[in-house]
Amino acid sequence: MTRVLLGLGSNLEPREEHIRTALDLLQERGAVRVERVSRLRETEPVGGPPQGSYLNGAALVETDLSPRDLLALIKSVEGRVGRSATGVRWGPREVDVDILLHGDLVVQEPGLIVPHPRLTGRRFVLEPAAEIAGDFLHPVLALSIAELLRRLPERLGRGAPRLLSTPEDLRGWVKTSLRNRFTTGLVPTMGALHEGHASLMRAAYRETDRVVASIFVNPRQFDDPSDLDRYPRTLEEDIALCAENGVDAVFAPSAEDMYPKGFCTRVEVEGISRVLEGAIRPGHFSGVATVVLKLIALALPDRAYFGQKDFQQACLVRRMVKDLGAPCTVVVMPTVRDLDGLAVSSRNRFLSPEDRRKGLALPRALEAARRAWADGERNAGRLHAEAAGVLGKEPGFAVDYLVVADPETLETLQGDADRAVILAAGRAGSVRLLDNVLLE
Ligand code: PAF
Repeated sequence: MTRVLLGLGSNLEPREEHIRTALDLLQERGAVRVERVSRLRETEPVGGPPQGSYLNGAALVETDLSPRDLLALIKSVEGRVGRSATGVRWGPREVDVDILLHGDLVVQEPGLIVPHPRLTGRRFVLEPAAEIAGDFLHPVLALSIAELLRRLPERLGRGAPRLLSTPEDLRGWVKTSLRNRFTTGLVPTMGALHEGHASLMRAAYRETDRVVASIFVNPRQFDDPSDLDRYPRTLEEDIALCAENGVDAVFAPSAEDMYPKGFCTRVEVEGISRVLEGAIRPGHFSGVATVVLKLIALALPDRAYFGQKDFQQACLVRRMVKDLGAPCTVVVMPTVRDLDGLAVSSRNRFLSPEDRRKGLALPRALEAARRAWADGERNAGRLHAEAAGVLGKEPGFAVDYLVVADPETLETLQGDADRAVILAAGRAGSVRLLDNVLLE
């Protein structure tokens, strides 16, 4: 028998009865035994259409069902309690049962991800889980539920954001901001949001009066059409994350609205856009510059937020805003890392545990160079050698580039430096990972 932690929720009356019935039905055939159930607590809905508040809880069960078989049982139980398979996602529901942890298994299959991908970011899941199974270990992060709860950042939450689907909707929203003399923060994203994006949103929330996040998978920055097709699209979850992190409006336009028939403008930032990622992905940065400038033109933000993880992108946007005199401050926020050190990225969800292990060579290599810098090393060649030495010990990580560069121009540095950035990228399995460390 394996210990399994389940998340429970309901926001259609009778809520408690729906949850209790689901637990009874789960045990009906003896394949699942409920060991402990947490207290049920009231929580506000996150994202989705307007709806009543939730009762949330957690249950610790024992089962010999595999995650896939348990999921099938859960789906049938949810159906019997009343939740229709075609219901609106993130909409009201009689009962919602999620597999949070299944022993020490890690599963990444279509429709089934264990540990649950949003377990670590949600107080309403972690609190009841900690009440009944604080010692349960997250097998990827190697931290207990109690520890994950302790590390959970305070969430902000101002209610559901306004959904703006067209540039005209955004214009209207901007006009009211201007009329009210509100300052605006823009967080441009391509969705599949994670803690890195959340940190940008929280910074925008702290520093401006109103925050708009854009969610647009920009076709013009993909050089490989299969990469564009594969890019995760998770709009409803994304809106929920925006809601939890102080976003007032989500701008999620279609490609036709962003690039209507006849659109023929391209923004090119010379130099910066041709090296490193630009050399590997021709046209990528011209696509980024074009869409970011368009977003700035539409949202008229006082401040626009980017993550340091995509250092080259941030550098390019800063240069473009400066060169073209766009009246907005570019804010670059530090890279957010998972607890094992890997920089968070939308692509990490595609890493198998083994590939993730290989990919960890990347932050380890940068950390080695950072330590050398902290110990006084200033020679670009020797800093490079520190990082390369660590990467060289992990043949499973295929390095695309590793450079010590000037943080503004991205030109490769020789000799001693008083500021530098080390940029590195490569592949763990089929997943591309980028990372960098700024040495100042
Ligand atoms: O970093 C990203 O997600 C994208 O490149 C951006 C800045 C949203 C432009 O599409």
